[in-house]
Amino acid sequence: MNNILETKGLYHDFDGLQVLFDVNLQIREGECHAVIGPNGAGKTTLFNVITGTYKPSKGQVFFKGREITGMQPCDLCRLGIGRSFQITTTFSRLTTFQNLRMGILSKKGVRFNFFKRVDKMEEITRETDDLLRRINLMGERNFPVSALSYGKHRALEISLAMSTDPDLVLLDEFAAGMSRDETHNAVELIKKMTEGKTVVLIEHDMDVVFSLADRITVLHRGQILAVGTPQEIRQNQEVKDAYLGDLEVNAAC
Ligand SMILES: Nc1ncnc2c1ncn2[C@@H]1O[C@H](COP(=O)(O)OP(=O)(O)O)[C@@H](O)[C@H]1O
Ligand SMILES: [Mg+2]
Repeated sequence: MNNILETKGLYHDFDGLQVLFDVNLQIREGECHAVIGPNGAGKTTLFNVITGTYKPSKGQVFFKGREITGMQPCDLCRLGIGRSFQITTTFSRLTTFQNLRMGILSKKGVRFNFFKRVDKMEEITRETDDLLRRINLMGERNFPVSALSYGKHRALEISLAMSTDPDLVLLDEFAAGMSRDETHNAVELIKKMTEGKTVVLIEHDMDVVFSLADRITVLHRGQILAVGTPQEIRQNQEVKDAYLGDLEVNAAC
């Protein structure tokens, strides 16, 4: 099976603080792959190195067989990689519609004089409204984003990551801070929006991981501890000792 995304011998440090050690991540085309691990394991840093926010101190990143190490996030977006962030990143004074429209425009690499083409603008409006309908946010189309509930706000962010129609989407802790209902809705939204796409998600909520992921990579202290199906990861003693055991203890408290 083809790997759509691959990292080879990836290292990263922050002023000498070594955060990633020889990370060889392999993501197969079309799968939903979860990256799990304790806080501080290096998961977000790994995403940041993959998506060009940081240049790795050593190693390479490949997307569809092409080296993309250190490429700018906007160029990666045009190649077909979308991402959402652990923190909220929408423009809070703009409306839901305006935020999504920006995502759609960014894929097309549009410059400002583009707005003079009325027919083009109508096409973008139609595309944005179609997306709003698919994600059940038409009722909030003209709300400033700051007026959205937390769950709807995060749903908008997932949709923003998808608005550029990427082949590969990276989602960083999309369910963090969501209620049970909001999490359930977000999982359904992701299933609907990412059909036929490759998804890599960082997630702490094991219910979410086990309901979405085809395969899991466990990151521990900047290194890959295990890779496998949810079933294999659940039964892996090293993973239980390093991570899942802790979660079970926490859940019981
Ligand atoms: N910008 C940064 N500058 C310095 N240290 C950082 C920075 N970002 C993350 N770190 C450190 O790198 C380690 C991994 O962080 P992170 O990738 O955010 O972990 P995770 O997402 O798995 O919780 C942590 O020790 C964190 O404090
Ligand atoms: Mg993180």
